Amino acid sequence: MTLKLAGWLVLVGAGKMGGAMLEGWLERGLGGDEIVILDPGPPPEIEKLIADHHIAHNPPVESVSDAAVVLLAVKPQIMDQVLPGIVSLKQSNPVFLSIAAGKTIAGFEAHLGTDAAIVRAMPNTPAAVSRGITVICPNANASAEQTATCKELLEAVGTVAAVEDEALLDAVTGVSGSGPAYVFHLVECMAAAGVKAGLPEDLAMELARATVSGAGELMHQSPLPASTLRENVTSPNGTTAAALDVLRGTGAMEKLLTEAILAATNRSKDLAG
Ligand SMILES: NC(=O)c1ccc[n+]([C@@H]2O[C@H](COP(=O)([O-])OP(=O)(O)OC[C@H]3O[C@@H](n4cnc5c(N)ncnc54)[C@H](OP(=O)(O)O)[C@@H]3O)[C@@H](O)[C@H]2O)c1
Repeated sequence: MTLKLAGWLVLVGAGKMGGAMLEGWLERGLGGDEIVILDPGPPPEIEKLIADHHIAHNPPVESVSDAAVVLLAVKPQIMDQVLPGIVSLKQSNPVFLSIAAGKTIAGFEAHLGTDAAIVRAMPNTPAAVSRGITVICPNANASAEQTATCKELLEAVGTVAAVEDEALLDAVTGVSGSGPAYVFHLVECMAAAGVKAGLPEDLAMELARATVSGAGELMHQSPLPASTLRENVTSPNGTTAAALDVLRGTGAMEKLLTEAILAATNRSKDLAG
């Protein structure tokens, strides 16, 4: 990472997601002396990183006079309590980058002012193994440079896409934000079906887990579209075709996933604040 920050990178909340990002930045060469962490109780592994890299931890917020980026990574439920305590960071015109699910740009502007540069991001859990996908949406005050910096910071934990219309983040939440859970449930269903087909429970789970993670990795490494990868393993009248006839024949799986993703999208709209 050849990040050029014009001031401090302030991490507010160094838990699972903030911690994963911190690890990514340090691995990519960002100096501990460029980071400030505000978190009253980070997990032990983050405490160790703070000590090893001599990162400033919980200095008085007013003393941080030169913030360039403020990453907001606390739970959505406490965001409204946390924001009033960090408003003073605004004096250096940083970009506030939020990864909190459901917290809207308007909600941040209510605390930070309508002149604050804000980038709202929706990451997902594979970020913990640097394989996340995050979608970002900047407000009108965020400069192209600030948005690019946010993108680069988020690339420490995976790939990044951008949208201009904040409303799309509800559907993003439905597809990629909540999506890992659908895949984990697919593994559960495949394992249960394997048991019904006669396999011992342990072996069925091992096969389902390895198949889903292996197919995911294959797709990750291959430039081919998912449809081609599917066709490549489906011979006419073969075993895979017999199963796909059930999944695709009546559009059953697509209908179910559409219903599921629309439910998540609508729930995201309900929760937005
Ligand atoms: N985890 C995910 O996969 C995921 C995916 C998408 C989006 N997100 C978003 O990422 C954000 C963080 O989630 P997470 O799973 O990383 O949560 P987390 O592990 O609970 O991390 C939040 C951290 O903030 C700390 N904290 C609590 N009060 C604070 C305060 N007043 N000031 C500063 N820090 C404070 C917490 O400390 P304590 O533990 O002591 O309270 C914890 O270390 C959430 O907004 C979530 O919506 C997470």
